[in-house]
Amino acid sequence: MNFTRGERLVMQRSDQEAAADQTPDAVIIKMTGVNKWFGAFQVLKEVHLEVRRGERVVICGPSGSGKSTLIRCLNQLEEHQQGAILIDGVKVSRTMRNIATMRSEIGMVFQSFNLFPHLTALENCALAPMKVRGLRAEEAKRLAMDLLDRVHIADQAQKYPAQLSGGQQQRVAIARSLCMSPKIMLFDEPTSALDPEMVKEVLDVITDLASSGMTMLVVTHEMGFARSVADRIIFMDKGQIAEEAAPEQFFVNPRNERTRQFLGQILSSQPRSRERTSTG
Ligand SMILES: Nc1ncnc2c1ncn2[C@@H]1O[C@H](COP(=O)(O)OP(=O)(O)OP(=O)(O)O)[C@@H](O)[C@H]1O
Ligand SMILES: [Mg+2]
Repeated sequence: MNFTRGERLVMQRSDQEAAADQTPDAVIIKMTGVNKWFGAFQVLKEVHLEVRRGERVVICGPSGSGKSTLIRCLNQLEEHQQGAILIDGVKVSRTMRNIATMRSEIGMVFQSFNLFPHLTALENCALAPMKVRGLRAEEAKRLAMDLLDRVHIADQAQKYPAQLSGGQQQRVAIARSLCMSPKIMLFDEPTSALDPEMVKEVLDVITDLASSGMTMLVVTHEMGFARSVADRIIFMDKGQIAEEAAPEQFFVNPRNERTRQFLGQILSSQPRSRERTSTG
């Protein structure tokens, strides 16, 4: 049987992933003693974190506690000064040889969607597979269509970002990341810039992705989502991981006083309907 180059690439990757999947407990993210400063200000303090393949981790905590900085260090959008970060066993640093490859294996979705305004939804998704993975235009577009379909937006493929709602743009941004077959997906407050009625459609897509076995770290204050989707919740405070627990323990019986205060504030500010988002 004849396969296109794109199909062969996808098959090679899924073979590698299948091999890796035989060790589902393998640690895919490992941070040990990570310290980071912005000038004199220490933003991350002795961060230790291990995430296993397929694990869904939610990170929450007050504004300025270092959540974005922590996940941005994973793909070295921010550089840490001390400690070690290993992604799938490979130590990452700004000077590592294969930094572009490492970044292409970690999908990142931000609060602001960062789509190219002059490209259609389809073109936004097809761009990196062509530029980074070397797929031909028609292969990349076929892949992009599949992923747009997966986020239920294939019918909007020919529209430009300005012609899409915030929720639709965010789903395009998710599809765009998925086009690179990432090993890990990082989400930094993916719904916080959205109008309330669009939050659910985006959380539903992320929930779907979670159930497919994707390893993901999600910074969010959507506590209903955290409760239903996360395997583990991390609470950050002043640059440190102050508490780490399974959702049940985290919500019912948090150990840390700061976690209790935070949950008290956040749950009282989220309407019940929002808290139940995507839990049905
Ligand atoms: N590039 C930077 N230069 C200097 N200080 C920074 C920089 N980026 C972040 N900081 C500071 O580091 C601290 C942590 O920022 P970070 O964005 O990681 O927090 P966060 O927990 O994601 O907050 P939020 O919930 O508001 O997004 C803040 O005090 C912030 O002002
Ligand atoms: Mg942030």
